[in-house]
Amino acid sequence: MESQTETHRKQKKWLRLLLFPLPLQGHVIPMLQLANLLYSKGFSITIIHTCFISSPKYPSKNPHFTFHSIPNGLSKSECSNADNLVSFISLLNANCAEPFRDCLVKLLSDVSDEPVAGLISDSTWKFTDSIAKSLQLPRFVLRTTNISSFLALAALPLLQEKGYLPKQESQEEKPVIELPPLKVKDIPVFKTQDQEGLHQTIAALVEQTKSCTGVIWNSFEELEHGSLTDFRYNFRVPIFPIGPLHKYFPVPSTSLLSQDQSAISWLNKQAPKSVIYVSFGSVASIEKSEFVEIAWGLANSEQPFLWVVRPGSVIGSEWLEPLPKGFMEEIKERGHVVKWAPQQEVLAHTAVGGFWTHSGWNSTLESFCEGVPMICHPCFGDQRVNARYVSDVWRIGVHLENKVDRFEIAKVVRKLLVEAEGHEIRDRILQFKKMANQSTQQQGSSYRSLESLVSQILSSQSQGKL
Ligand code: UDX
Repeated sequence: MESQTETHRKQKKWLRLLLFPLPLQGHVIPMLQLANLLYSKGFSITIIHTCFISSPKYPSKNPHFTFHSIPNGLSKSECSNADNLVSFISLLNANCAEPFRDCLVKLLSDVSDEPVAGLISDSTWKFTDSIAKSLQLPRFVLRTTNISSFLALAALPLLQEKGYLPKQESQEEKPVIELPPLKVKDIPVFKTQDQEGLHQTIAALVEQTKSCTGVIWNSFEELEHGSLTDFRYNFRVPIFPIGPLHKYFPVPSTSLLSQDQSAISWLNKQAPKSVIYVSFGSVASIEKSEFVEIAWGLANSEQPFLWVVRPGSVIGSEWLEPLPKGFMEEIKERGHVVKWAPQQEVLAHTAVGGFWTHSGWNSTLESFCEGVPMICHPCFGDQRVNARYVSDVWRIGVHLENKVDRFEIAKVVRKLLVEAEGHEIRDRILQFKKMANQSTQQQGSSYRSLESLVSQILSSQSQGKL
């Protein structure tokens, strides 16, 4: 039987979807991957964006999408202060509601032969629910984290009531019986002075998720079956686990920063599975003392390493200034440091044997899909939950969870790259690689969820259902 999308395509009656990412790297990447996927299913795509994606490179790399920018009212310094996530998100939400509404009204009143089928919004935007409802527009949300970590986030008020929060140092190892296998130290908290703002953001996130037409997850059924069951039970909203989003087909790079290709030429000179790739994503930052321990730990491991040091990610430094004197001379050709790497290409490279990651969800999924075992070093929020699942549930990585000193680092790197335990982890992650890659193929669980999502968008649009 011909699908509804094929009928629309043949009749040249395209439907338009409006996508509204949060302007942070880890959120823009999956949203643009989703945009490409839905475009391949016959929808026209409009991206509504604020600062960060104002780079002209975005529209020129994606000529098949239409881009509309809205002002965010943030000063340059507020924009560059995205590492203070809670206040950054509160400010964006306070400033963008009106411009977003105006943009939506304009787009909806545009009389074209492409009716708007719906809005897909990052779930962190608090105001999209009421605006979409007032305009009779079906609203889906994209969750860029996994399901287990979302459930942990949604449980924060309960955990506070039960006395787990604020965290006490002496309680860190205590199990959270309401959320196995998490320990108190894994509860996804964020550092902030603005606890009230944080509570409001989380409450809004949960409400936004409950009241939408459907939740799209960058995860897959086989991986998170138990958490999906809990979510279905507690949230009673249609869900579409269609990940890993980057596995359907190659798309132009969705990176906001320019990727240093010297990473690949350097990897080309290394032996198979010999290199530890180190990157802590686009937001996390570390103290100078920790940076120095990492440097010596990598040097002492005696393994080749490719290290991404994002400018500004070492607190109080521009880039590599805190590196110990003589460090580069000491490591010679054995290490390569870049500001930003083509990560997916790096993880797919035969020379890479392990990934020391902050356990951001995109990085974790990318590592899964290439069968690269991980050293997990979570910094905040969902990363702590991801790390616990990687090390204790899926058992495809080692958790660097206690004191991060140069001796421990060297030991863990060697464990992953050269010791028997590392080989066992690698064997296990290869099973996950297979499972992840199968899920996006025809008849795979994510592919089927994608088809359901397309049907749901079409039926919500035709019924004007909110
Ligand atoms: C943040 C949160 O940390 C993460 O947990 C949440 O799920 C999304 O928002 P971020 O910290 O940037 O994201 O981490 P991650 O989710 O891993 O995303 C980083 C992305 O940047 C990945 O897609 C990765 O491929 C890309 N990247 C990273 C590069 O392209 N080059 C690099 O050098 C490093």
